[in-house]
Amino acid sequence: MTMITLALSKGRIFDETMPLLAAAGIEVLEDPETSRKLILPTNQPSVRVVMVRATDVPTYVQYGGADLGVTGKDTLIEHGGQGLFRPLDLNIAKCRVSVAVRSDFDYAHAVTQGSRLKVATKYTLIARDFFASKGVHVDLIKLYGSMELAPLTGMADAIVDLVSTGNTLKANHLVEVERIMDISSHLVVNQAALKLKQAPLRHIIDAFASAIRQD
Ligand code: PRP
Ligand code: MG
Repeated sequence: MTMITLALSKGRIFDETMPLLAAAGIEVLEDPETSRKLILPTNQPSVRVVMVRATDVPTYVQYGGADLGVTGKDTLIEHGGQGLFRPLDLNIAKCRVSVAVRSDFDYAHAVTQGSRLKVATKYTLIARDFFASKGVHVDLIKLYGSMELAPLTGMADAIVDLVSTGNTLKANHLVEVERIMDISSHLVVNQAALKLKQAPLRHIIDAFASAIRQD
């Protein structure tokens, strides 16, 4: 039996991948929110799901720890995409990467004045590219979470982070001043696995493709 391993992360990506898996006849048998198991069985003995940190999904697929995975475009850009075949934009877990500042910070003025901006983010590649294309000089401060705190504590002038509902920004008196890119999650497949396990992987890719919802 050829085992197929799918890497997912908890939360929206897991939840919104379930209907796509259902289209492939696959049902995950345990809930990652309540189970402490990292390998979840499915109704198909030859398919299992591994639960990893969102930022680790491309790495697991790149090195063959998983044959395929679902990951945000943001994560994929920061990873670099080496060794990954990227057949489908799944149009799920949609959000955007934006620049946000304290509501009392005059971002437009700082940019036109050519000031150096201190920018806190976990998306250093995306942020570096974006500000370079605008000709804005930035000092990037790498963080791993809760970026919103950086401008509030005076550590940074701006953040580059994901915005979905906008509630987190609002709750912390921050405002979105630039939209850098729209994000959705993509299916990524290990390039070697695609050759060695062609039939079962094709079945999953085709089922996902037929179940993608457009809006
Ligand atoms: C994400 C993101 C924002 C928030 C955006 O953080 O970094 O903080 O969600 O969502 P909203 O616009 O709907 O409020 P998350 O809580 O996932 O965790 P992290 O930043 O610690 O990784
Ligand atoms: Mg956050």
